[in-house]
Amino acid sequence: MEKKSLFPAVKGFLHGGDYNPEQWLDRPDILKEDIKMMKKAGINSATLGVFSWSVYEPSEGKYNFKWLTDTMDNLYKNGIYTVLATPSGARPAWLDEKYPEAMRVDNYGHRNHHGFRHNHCMSSPVYREKVENIIKKLVECAGNHPGLVMWHISNEFGGECYCPLCIKRFQEYLADKFDNDISKLNHAWWNTFWSHNYNSFGQIEPPFANGEITSLGLDLEWKRFTTWNMTDYMKSEIKLLKELTPEIPVTTNFMGLYGGLDYRVMAEELDVVSWDSYPALHNQWETFTESMENNSFDHVTMRSMKKDKPFMLMESAPGLVNWQQYNKVKRPGVHRLFSMQALACGSDTVQYFQWRKGRGSFEQYHGAVTDHLGTDDTRIFKEVAGLGAELGKISKAVGTVVKAKAALLYDWDNRWAIEDIKGLSNETKKYTETCRDIYRQFLRLGIEMDIIASDSGFMDYDIVIAPMLYMLRPGVADEMKAFVEKGGQLLATYLTGYVDINQLCYLGGFPGDGLTGLFGVTSEEIDTLYPSDHNAALFKDGSIAEIKDYAETLRVNDAKVLASYMEDFYKGTPAVTARDYKKGTAYYVGARISNEKMQEIFLEMAEKAGVEHKELPLGIEYHKRTADGETYEFYLNNSEETKMVKNVTGTNLLNGEKINGVLELGKYGAAVIEL
Ligand code: GLA
Ligand code: ZN
Repeated sequence: MEKKSLFPAVKGFLHGGDYNPEQWLDRPDILKEDIKMMKKAGINSATLGVFSWSVYEPSEGKYNFKWLTDTMDNLYKNGIYTVLATPSGARPAWLDEKYPEAMRVDNYGHRNHHGFRHNHCMSSPVYREKVENIIKKLVECAGNHPGLVMWHISNEFGGECYCPLCIKRFQEYLADKFDNDISKLNHAWWNTFWSHNYNSFGQIEPPFANGEITSLGLDLEWKRFTTWNMTDYMKSEIKLLKELTPEIPVTTNFMGLYGGLDYRVMAEELDVVSWDSYPALHNQWETFTESMENNSFDHVTMRSMKKDKPFMLMESAPGLVNWQQYNKVKRPGVHRLFSMQALACGSDTVQYFQWRKGRGSFEQYHGAVTDHLGTDDTRIFKEVAGLGAELGKISKAVGTVVKAKAALLYDWDNRWAIEDIKGLSNETKKYTETCRDIYRQFLRLGIEMDIIASDSGFMDYDIVIAPMLYMLRPGVADEMKAFVEKGGQLLATYLTGYVDINQLCYLGGFPGDGLTGLFGVTSEEIDTLYPSDHNAALFKDGSIAEIKDYAETLRVNDAKVLASYMEDFYKGTPAVTARDYKKGTAYYVGARISNEKMQEIFLEMAEKAGVEHKELPLGIEYHKRTADGETYEFYLNNSEETKMVKNVTGTNLLNGEKINGVLELGKYGAAVIEL
């Protein structure tokens, strides 16, 4: 595998962030200072123009790009490259005044007033036309600039619009999807229920808050449509940029596990995946280690959308944000650890929101590299500059990628379906948390894992974990069978294969679509436990695993019983099974058993699959990046105590130390070992 640098022009990792000189045009002294300080901090990139429309085009048809090209020139002369945003993330007032149809309509049918951001109607032809116009002007001025390394499309796409135009597009989308045959849609959505049958696609409204909120099929298609429409809009920007500047790659900044859009669909249109990472660290509901592990899950979800190349950490806060419930600052040393984690997971950038704190408005107290104090001797500035220097020491790793032999199936579609289940308990469905807990166990075993959609293809992995795969997409069950046949280790849990892509239940037993055969079990009932209820699974070796939240009663047709329930009316019946089938194994875990026991099962699967694992102290996160025959191992101490990691060999590029045996990592420490 060859190294794939995202930015051939740039030496080393991209280090920079959002820079808003247009807010400081009356302060040339500060703009001058910015460049000096950026160089001190080892910054080599600036993201410009994210919300600059009202400065680019102060009134319709009047343009001002000089400040932008001056800034790009100045940065470039100083070795700093530009990631240039299209300004469609927020609209100038003149636009909304003249073209109110560009503003979004909410789920009660009310048109928004002007203001805020990220609230345009994605279907609006006027909005698209105005965006196209400003992009053309932007490209005329800056598209050929030697400092331009990437397009940043709009900003943090999100939300929904219920305007008449969007409703019409939704109806057309549905008509297309259901072959113009309303009876197909009625059947797929089970519309005879509560007399919900439609006569025509023109009768279908989106799920208005005071309208149809009881149709699961409608809900799900509305979410899929919103992704489709947002992607369609995004593609209109991309198409234009590709025509005008075909050689410049495009990205848009995702928001991690944001629930409103299926990012996997959008990622297909992008050259590079990038995202904004703002975990609430040092919180009171989980340990610091757990917070970091969860953030690792998010990184890997992003990385796995384009596995063959690095991703970008487009935004992060070196100190703090201003929108969490409690805006705690990152403790000393955490900025470095957090940034190293992004690189360890496969990012080739560390970028911030933002370079300099603004003086006023909504984000005046949001952290930045440069504070209102304005000096280069603040704690945060020094930490950023320290990182900047260290990035230089590990620049050899740019363009390398992480390879995983295990995969976790985690889907937006499946998540939407689970969230909409009328049943179980809304407090304990915890689909994402469950997936994170599983990822965490693999991380603790030092086994690299990709996090992919169930229909991304998983035949090339050795281990596949499919937690709560409630909705089966077409072909997934067949692929699971083929995967186990070729020797794969597969694990599914309670709540697998209840419904198809329209959320119609499978008949003849869960898990449906033929999976009862593969796993050799049929789930007959699912019991929802109160938090104070108690049950446990007794394993054949005498060990006991606690059970929380969910327990299925299973009929075993053809599988080994690994554990049985210990309490309740289903005491003694199977809780966990495994079926050896052809060259592989299909595990079925019928209840939410403890993480510790899950880890033991994963270890057994790894051993059977011949997948290497590591003995890591609790709190140590490990990743390996490779390409061109080079290997870089990242060790992160996501804890406050010193840790000793055994069996490490190579040179720690961060301090030049040769390790042969034990690697000592202090509080929040990190090492990058070249093999
Ligand atoms: C998002 C946006 C930025 C900024 C930050 C604040 O990521 O993209 O413009 O508002 O949040 O955390
Ligand atoms: Zn709309």
